Formats: sequence, structure tokens, C-alpha cells
Amino acid sequence: MEKGRVLLAVTGFHPQRWRELLSAEREVVLEPDGASDPSITYAVVWKQKANLLSSLPNLRAIFSIGAGVDHIFADPGLPDVPIVKVVADNLTQYMTEYVIWRVLDHHRQGMLYQAQQKKKTWHEPPQRPAGDISVGIMGLGNLGRAAASVLLSLGFAVNGWSRTVRPMKGVSTYAGEAGLIPFLNATDILVVLLPLTAQTQGIVSYSLLKELRRRNGLGGSVLINAGRGRLQKDADILRALDDGTLKEASLDVFEVEPLPKTSPLWAHPKVFVTPHAAATSDPVHLVPIMLRQMAAYERGEKLDNVVDREAGY
Ligand code: NDP
Ligand code: OXD
Repeated sequence: MEKGRVLLAVTGFHPQRWRELLSAEREVVLEPDGASDPSITYAVVWKQKANLLSSLPNLRAIFSIGAGVDHIFADPGLPDVPIVKVVADNLTQYMTEYVIWRVLDHHRQGMLYQAQQKKKTWHEPPQRPAGDISVGIMGLGNLGRAAASVLLSLGFAVNGWSRTVRPMKGVSTYAGEAGLIPFLNATDILVVLLPLTAQTQGIVSYSLLKELRRRNGLGGSVLINAGRGRLQKDADILRALDDGTLKEASLDVFEVEPLPKTSPLWAHPKVFVTPHAAATSDPVHLVPIMLRQMAAYERGEKLDNVVDREAGY
């Protein structure tokens, strides 16, 4: 099978490092030669321009630069070829670190100590064991399961919610619409690791946050969202923080990114903001996986981690 060229189509960052690493094995272009360039066989993309891929006659597969693929589905002219998402130890490790960092910071009252330090206050609030806190992971997929197993090893009670039934040892699992309210009612710290799809958009609403458990030593429920910004309604989170429905939040993703300078989330004393940085896609780790998959596909082997188009992730 002809190797063909790789189209590297990204917006929002400079693709130089990706280009260099892909070029070790493939000829890489940043634009096709015309609307129906027959030389392109693979596309590696992050938020590609609309309709860029629609008429490439020999395109065999699209590789997402991220674990999320909503940026690909945003293209109305998406051709019917397999879409491969990122599943990589390195990215999973980064996300696990982020989740553990934020859960521990809320559990160990990091925000309170920071406020006390500013006022030079010497006060030790009561401590409680991790086992008294239940962390509920919305989206028990590759990233959710990895975070869940480390949370378990730290002694937290862990709940998980997924679309289909996903048993996991030590985790209380819930699935589908019927499982959502029981899952929330048993959760103190909600960690959102869902993909953005037609079903999940806007799911983290005020009414959902109201269902979280609040009778715990934490002094309230906590939201951590590292999935996608459009899963949440920023205004609902602010309302929930301001009326005590939520005690605190750690947000890595936002309805609009970069988070506008005018957003009250930036300066909110109960919000910890990171700039969509929970788990970065590092080309040094991800490009070799993509190149291996391209070569395997050309040998007639199947692609791994292909997106289910109907489910949208
Ligand atoms: P996976 O596809 O492995 O897992 C997704 C999970 O969400 C699955 O458990 C799935 O259920 C569940 N899910 C999907 N739709 C629904 C629904 N309608 N109702 C209930 N559960 C649902 O994805 P990953 O774990 O690899 O990644 C998750 C997301 O994390 C990505 O899509 C991306 O948006 C985000 N991400 C964010 C990063 C950041 O830096 N902030 C970095 C990397 C990823 P089921 O198991 O039944 O299929
Ligand atoms: C991803 C991301 O989806 O970085 O991998 O958001």
C-alpha cells in the first residue's frame, strides 16, 4: 500500500514539533494541494478547519491530537473514515495526577489554608479520613478508571458513572440515566471526565449539582471538571458556589476558552482555575503511537481506539 502524505491540520497552537516528529517516517504537509489532493492518506488534527477533510479522495483515517474528539465532530464535512482518539499512558498519567492533586487539595482544605495564610491565621481545622469522602467520577473510561484506582489506593470511597455498565473492583458503579441521581446522591466530590457529545452537553447544571451529597466532613460538595467546558454551564456553577450548593470548584475547562478576562470565575475565592492543562498531548509520546498505527493499518491490521461515531466519542 502506498504510504502517501500526512496532513497535519491544527488550530490554536504551533504544529512544528508534531511536524518534525511525524516527518521521521512520513511526508507531512500543513495544507492539501487543492481541495481533492489524492496524495493525502492520513490526517492528524486538532480543531481542523471546517470541510478541509471532506474531499480528500484517498484519506484512510483521521488521528485526533487529543483524547476528546468533539473538535473533530464540529466539522460539518467530516468524511466517513475511521477516527482514532488518543489513548496513551503518558496522557493518562497526567490526568491522574491532576485529579489526585485537585481531590487532595479540596480534601485537605487547601483553599482554607491559603485564605488563612493571607491573614496570617494559625488555626487547625478538624481532619477527617479519606474513607469518609466519596469521589464520584462521571465518565468511567480510560482516564476515569485510572484516576479511580489511585483514589481507591488512597482510601477514598469511589463511585463511577458511565453510559453503559462498567463494573470496576472496589468502585460503586452506576450507568445511564437511571443511575445518574443515585450516583450524585452518593457523591461528595464530583470529578467530570466525560466526553462532549449531544447527550452530555450542558449536563453539569445547577439542578445536577443540587443532587450532590452535602452531609460530609468536607463542609459541602465539590466540583472538579477536566472533561470539556461545554459539559458545564459556567453561570450555574457560580450560582451553586454563591448559594452554598457547592463548597468549592476546580475547573480546567470552560464554556469559552480561553476563559474571558471578564469571567467572574477568575477571581472567585472558591474556584481554582487551570487553562485546559490537566493532561497535555505531548507529541514525543503520541507521535510514535500514531506512526505505529499508520504502518499497522497499511499492513492490513486494524486500528486501535477508533471512535464510535454513533456514540460520538
Ligand atoms: P473514554 O471514551 O475512554 O471514556 C468516556 C467515558 O464517558 C466512558 O465511561 C463513557 O461511558 C462515558 N460516557 C460517555 N457518554 C456518556 C453519557 N451520555 N452518559 C454517561 N456516561 C457517558 O474517554 P477518556 O477517558 O479517554 O477521556 C474523557 C474525556 O476527557 C475526553 O473526551 C476529553 O473531553 C477529556 N480530556 C480532557 C483533557 C484536559 O486536558 N482537560 C485531556 C484529555 C481528555 P461508557 O464507558 O459506557 O462508554
Ligand atoms: C484532550 C485534551 O482531549 O487535551 O486530549 O483536551
